Amino acid sequence: MEILQWNDALATGIPVIDEQHKQIVDMVNQLRDAIEAGDSEAAGQIIPKMVDYTVFHFTFEEELMEMANYSFLPVHRHVHQLFTRRIPEFQKRYAAGEDVLVELHNMLVRWLANHIQHEDRDYAPAIRDYLKERQNAAKAAEASAAGAAAILNAAPGGAAAAPAAAPAAQGQESATQTFRKRGLWQRIKAFFAD
Ligand SMILES: [Fe+2]
Repeated sequence: MEILQWNDALATGIPVIDEQHKQIVDMVNQLRDAIEAGDSEAAGQIIPKMVDYTVFHFTFEEELMEMANYSFLPVHRHVHQLFTRRIPEFQKRYAAGEDVLVELHNMLVRWLANHIQHEDRDYAPAIRDYLKERQNAAKAAEASAAGAAAILNAAPGGAAAAPAAAPAAQGQESATQTFRKRGLWQRIKAFFAD
């Protein structure tokens, strides 16, 4: 029987994806162990779990590719669908009494190794860049929120106090007054208090 082993060639460099791929590799190896031990009950238990997890993983990958605007998402999605459609064929043959476990296992080993090393590694740079951008944006937002909070706290009375009304020309409303009227100041204070 063929064997699927985790190695650097399967790594995408995206921790969350690599963890999910490792889980799938682990399940394929549990199936292998069950087949080799002649334990068809254990094999029958691991297959639906593996299929469910793989379908979840495909959806996860596709959502990430969509967020990252990966241009080959439609092709990649199609490849996932082709794989998913093959499973019921095996289920039908198994239900008809055919011994398909070794063939199913070997198909999984070959398909997964090939898919991860080629199609999945192809989207990796786009997703890594997207995740880095998101991280940088989150850091920048944090830094600017901290900066704004510092300015508010440095103001007389600190963030808890509303700013003193600037002298307004007669008949003209100051920005602070407008802010107060519209309840915006309270919202800003609440925002920075979080
Ligand atoms: Fe994939």
